Amino acid sequence: MKKNLLITGGAGFIGSHVVRLFVNKYPDYHIVNLDKLTYAGNLNNLTDIEKASNYEFVKADIVDGDAMVQLFQKYQFEKVIHLAAESHVDRSIANPIEFVITNVVGTCNLLNAARHIWKDNSEGKLFYHVSTDEVYGSLGEEGFFTESTPYDPHSPYSASKASSDHFVRAYHDTYKLPVVISNCSNNYGSFQFPEKLIPLAINNIKNNRPIPVYGKGENVRDWLWVDDHARAIDVILHKGKIGETYNIGGFNEWKNIDLIHVLCKVMDEKLGRTPGTSASLITFVTDRAGHDLRYAIDATKLNTELGWQPSLQFEEGIAKTVDWYLANEAWLNNVTSGDYKKYYDNQYAAR
Ligand code: NAD
Ligand code: TYD
Repeated sequence: MKKNLLITGGAGFIGSHVVRLFVNKYPDYHIVNLDKLTYAGNLNNLTDIEKASNYEFVKADIVDGDAMVQLFQKYQFEKVIHLAAESHVDRSIANPIEFVITNVVGTCNLLNAARHIWKDNSEGKLFYHVSTDEVYGSLGEEGFFTESTPYDPHSPYSASKASSDHFVRAYHDTYKLPVVISNCSNNYGSFQFPEKLIPLAINNIKNNRPIPVYGKGENVRDWLWVDDHARAIDVILHKGKIGETYNIGGFNEWKNIDLIHVLCKVMDEKLGRTPGTSASLITFVTDRAGHDLRYAIDATKLNTELGWQPSLQFEEGIAKTVDWYLANEAWLNNVTSGDYKKYYDNQYAAR
């Protein structure tokens, strides 16, 4: 009998990398990818593994509590990796309630389903909740987020993720649900929806459109290659301690404006444009409300206790990412058709 592993949000950016890694690496797991296929979920992210015998896709909504219980009854999952979420800060500012419903209620529905199905025997079971460093709030010029940094979320997105983290810990403390949580920094790489900074900038540069930089571009993010996040999730799922939290980060801080200049240089080279062409598209626009100044992760615990470390240097990762978006024009055109234009116009017209 294969062990059933549930991955939620597996048709999204990070989820698709996690699904691919697990399907290829673990032929003895039966991997169920549960996804609602929102604007951010795309089965085209998984065409290379969709026919694998250890893979199954289930279209479902984590907000539907009864459906979650039925799913857990049917599959008797041994382990869960929960990534499904509304994930974009700007959308959370425009529509916070949707984030409460998906990220808080949806997570609680999964916890509840796991609790009811595992109650008699939670031996070998694990509920792995994938979270973000944004729950810790904003750093000044110095310091890092550690696993004991107090929560201080500022955006509706980070507040909803913080709330879901609290519920995961509450289910552990109250019902002894076997859980583990990781909080990761900003990811980048292939298959990221072009609402987030890096793919949005690549798409705009490619199409000679302005690159919107919020405020003065001085906010700092700690960027991690998405496959390094997927590898960390693998390590934590198999070697992490129940009830623990692990921070995941790249030790790779960039001011937004400096990152955009690197991207512009790489794009000029790849597109055979005169140096400076892409940088001329940089446009400073009205800042994001409640914009966190700096995120930086201290991933020492994950490194010393579980032996994980990032594999890729940023310059190499950015070049690979640009190559991927330029080589996958059909994917990019597909996700930027339809509602994307409406989103973009709403988001950026007033800035
Ligand atoms: P994403 O927006 O690309 O993908 C989210 C996926 O969840 C999509 O496939 C979507 O269809 C699915 N989904 C949304 N609502 C759902 C629902 N109600 N029921 C079932 N499926 C639903 O997000 P991502 O960037 O891949 O992030 C994945 C997870 O990792 C999120 O929990 C996010 O908070 C966390 N995270 C992201 C980053 C990052 O840099 N992107 C960093 C740290 C943590
Ligand atoms: P984003 O990719 O949305 O990730 P997060 O807000 O979760 O960190 O944004 C990364 C940084 O880039 C953040 O400081 C906001 C900034 N940003 C821009 O300057 N312009 C943009 O168009 C976007 C989407 C983000």
